Amino acid sequence: MKIHLQTPQEIRLKIWKELSRASLDRHHDWRTPVLASVDADGLPDARTVVLRQADALAGQLTFYTDSRSPKVAQLQTQASAMLVFWSARLSWQLRVRVVCTVITAGPEVEALWQGVKQSAAAGDYLSPLAPGAVLPPDRGTADAADASVPAPTHSFAVLHAQVLQMDWLELSREGHRRAQLDATTWAWLTP
Ligand SMILES: Cc1cc2nc3c(=O)[nH]c(=O)nc-3n(C[C@H](O)[C@H](O)[C@H](O)COP(=O)(O)O)c2cc1C
Repeated sequence: MKIHLQTPQEIRLKIWKELSRASLDRHHDWRTPVLASVDADGLPDARTVVLRQADALAGQLTFYTDSRSPKVAQLQTQASAMLVFWSARLSWQLRVRVVCTVITAGPEVEALWQGVKQSAAAGDYLSPLAPGAVLPPDRGTADAADASVPAPTHSFAVLHAQVLQMDWLELSREGHRRAQLDATTWAWLTP
């Protein structure tokens, strides 16, 4: 049975608890939100990313990416972005307005890279081809296309998303609920 949380304090706490769980549990629905940004022409762009860390105290969500990916250039030009999470288990949608910072070098990147480079995902950050690069028409994977090209140093980058505001929506037979919250305020909205 679903527990019907009542107070803003309870719900706020639970939102961050679930975000933290999602960063550790690859089966959590909130593990793979959609990150929406705008490109250089002001057009919307969006993609799935994996939530790696959720820091309730700092109000920060962390992701890993390739420093050469188009989203990095977009976020360096326009740091405002949205993250959208949906959990069928919770019947909760969370839309999070964030400001993004991409870190491509330095002690934090190198420390996290030490872990990532041991994992199966390491190859993603070592490919000589940037994400989104066009492959020859007869090749479906970058691995096959770039066999003769020497691998560069890693292009692993850390993306920090500072949370500005959340829009929380709960779907429930007892009545949908919606609220807009930031670090200190809470407003109930019509769902
Ligand atoms: C389940 C799933 C998880 C993904 N996780 C990430 C991720 O954590 N970081 C990332 O940069 N791309 C991730 N991707 C790939 C992106 O969705 C996207 O295709 C790629 O990063 C290029 O995006 P861009 O062209 O907007 O930069 C993931 C894709 C899927 C399907």
